[in-house]
Amino acid sequence: MKNLSPCLLPLKPEMIEAAVDIERQANAFPWSVANFEDCLKANYPAFILALPSKPIAGFMLYYTILDELHLLNICVCPKLQRKGLGRFMLDSLMASARDQEIRELWLEVRESNKAAIQLYRCSGFVQVGVRKNYYPNGAARENALVMKLALGK
Ligand SMILES: CC(C)(COP(=O)(O)OP(=O)(O)OC[C@H]1O[C@@H](n2cnc3c(N)ncnc32)[C@H](O)[C@@H]1OP(=O)(O)O)[C@@H](O)C(=O)NCCC(=O)NCCS
Repeated sequence: MKNLSPCLLPLKPEMIEAAVDIERQANAFPWSVANFEDCLKANYPAFILALPSKPIAGFMLYYTILDELHLLNICVCPKLQRKGLGRFMLDSLMASARDQEIRELWLEVRESNKAAIQLYRCSGFVQVGVRKNYYPNGAARENALVMKLALGK
């Protein structure tokens, strides 16, 4: 990871196509261009993961309400997964949340998404609930785990 020299930069409208391309590679049920556009229109914080070797290698979007932060999406392009970049983004998010005096981070994750669940657990998130049939899953639906991280002072 050290050699990759990652940084986070604001996700701009002209970067949405590249982000959706990564989404499609990484997710069976990817976000659409419209999903990204809606987030930018709502002024939700949105970042791309930039590497010297790959200017758009992933992304992260969230929103805040008062002292709560809700992670909407986080993704690393498949060829660069398992190199510490997901953790880099999540650590950056937690540091930024602390700076903003955020008290709790919340997210939903597909119950089959072992990689993401493990990443969140390693970072201190705990499961606090299940939303039944929350996600589309072909003809069926999939449950979401609701996870929360309480930030210490
Ligand atoms: C989830 C995701 C962002 C993780 O990014 P990543 O850069 O591969 O993760 P990291 O290399 O930083 O891994 C950090 C830790 O997460 C866990 N982890 C990551 N990928 C894992 C996998 N495939 N299986 C098991 N644990 C995994 C491990 O504990 C890992 O630490 P370790 O490598 O020291 O064992 C990435 O898999 C991804 O983009 N997935 C598709 C999009 C997605 O599902 N997003 C989450 C939506 S809720």
